[in-house]
Amino acid sequence: MKQINVGIIGTGWCGGIRAQTCATNPLVKSLHLAETRPERLAEVAKATGAQTATADYQQILHNDSIDAVMISATPEVLHFPMARDALSSGKHVFLEKPIAIELHEADELISIARKNKLKFTIGYSQRFNPKFAYVKQCATDGTLGKPVSALVSRHIGRNLGKKITGRTKLSPAAMEATHDLDFILWCLEPAKPVRVYSQVNYGAMREASGADVPDTQYITVTMDSGVSFVICAGWSLPPAYPNFSMTWIEFVGTEGALVIDDTHRDTMLTTMKTGIVHPMSTMPGEFVEHTYAGPMAAETIHFIEAVACDRPVLVTAEQARQVMEVYLAADISAERNEPVNLPLPESRPLAAAGVAR
Ligand SMILES: NC(=O)c1ccc[n+]([C@@H]2O[C@H](COP(=O)([O-])OP(=O)(O)OC[C@H]3O[C@@H](n4cnc5c(N)ncnc54)[C@H](O)[C@@H]3O)[C@@H](O)[C@H]2O)c1
Repeated sequence: MKQINVGIIGTGWCGGIRAQTCATNPLVKSLHLAETRPERLAEVAKATGAQTATADYQQILHNDSIDAVMISATPEVLHFPMARDALSSGKHVFLEKPIAIELHEADELISIARKNKLKFTIGYSQRFNPKFAYVKQCATDGTLGKPVSALVSRHIGRNLGKKITGRTKLSPAAMEATHDLDFILWCLEPAKPVRVYSQVNYGAMREASGADVPDTQYITVTMDSGVSFVICAGWSLPPAYPNFSMTWIEFVGTEGALVIDDTHRDTMLTTMKTGIVHPMSTMPGEFVEHTYAGPMAAETIHFIEAVACDRPVLVTAEQARQVMEVYLAADISAERNEPVNLPLPESRPLAAAGVAR
C-alpha cells in the first residue's frame, strides 16, 4: 500500500463528488484538478485544497508524480481522447461511462491499458449501491436458484434528461439503460448476450425540443443461457428533486424471486418553497453531513484503493465494452424495428446506430 497522487479531469457534478471524496481519503497524497470553467475550478479547488488547478488537462498528464486520473468531463465525445492520452502517459484511469463512442475506440483503450499494465475502469456506479450488490449476491450464491428472468425499470427527471440530451446524441440505452445493462449482465455472468430487441417511445422530450429525442427506451436482451431480461429507461419525469432517479428491480430464479424498490419514495420532504420532493434520490448520491447517501463515494474509494493497494477493479473495461455492444445493438434494433444478433460487426460507428436528433 502506498499513498497516491490523483488528478481529476472535469469537476462538474460527478467530478466534484469524486474530488471531494479524494480530498478526505488518507490514501490520496495530493489532488490535482483540470476544469475549463474557471469559476467551478476555483470553487472545487478551494473546497478540496487541491495542490494544482488548471484549465488544461494535459498538464495533469504531463505531471509524472500523478499516479491515477479520474475523467469526469462532458460532452461524452471527450472520454475516448482523454482516456487514450491518460493511459498512454502511464496513468491508471477511472473513466465515467460511456467508455467511448465507437467499439474500436473502446478496443484501443483496452489494448493501451493492457500494454501499459494499468488499472482501467468505467463508472458503473450502481454496482456500489448496496441494494444492487444484494441482487448480485443472491443471483450468484444460490439463494434464488438458477436465473430465469430479470427486469429493471429506471426513470430520471426531465431536467436531467434535458441536460444529457443537450450535450450528446446518445440514446436512453447508451446513457441510462447502460447502468442496468451492466448490472444484469454482471449478475448473469458467465452467460453472454446473443440477441437484442428494442423500441423507443416519443413524448414530452420531442415536443419540448423539436429534436428526435425519445422519452423512454425498452430493451429485451436474450442470453446464451436462455435467460432473457428487460430494461426500461426513461428521462422525462416531472421534477421531484434535482436530478431525481427511481429504479425498480425484479430478479426471478428457480428457487426464489427478489424485488428491489429503489424508487426513493421512502424519504419525503415538503416545504412551502418546493412542495414535496424526495432527497437523496440521485444516481450518484450526495454528501449528507458526515456521511454519503449513494454509491459514488464508495465507487471512488474503491478505485483509489485498487491503485494504492494494487487490487483488481470491480468493473473491467472488457465488461464495459460488452455493455456498449448491447446498447449499440439496442439502438440498431430500435432503428430497424427488428431483433439484432450479437456479436456486432466490429467497429460499427454509433452514428449509424444511434437515435439521431
Ligand atoms: N455514474 C453516475 O451515476 C453518473 C451520473 C451522472 C453522470 N455520469 C457521467 O459522468 C460524466 C460527467 O457528468 P456530469 O453530470 O458530472 O457532467 P457536468 O457537465 O456536470 O460536468 C462535466 C465537466 O467537465 C468540464 N469540462 C469540459 N471539457 C473539459 C476539458 N477539456 N477539460 C476539463 N474539464 C472539462 C465541464 O466544464 C464540466 O464542468 C458524464 O459523462 C456522465 O455520463 C455518471
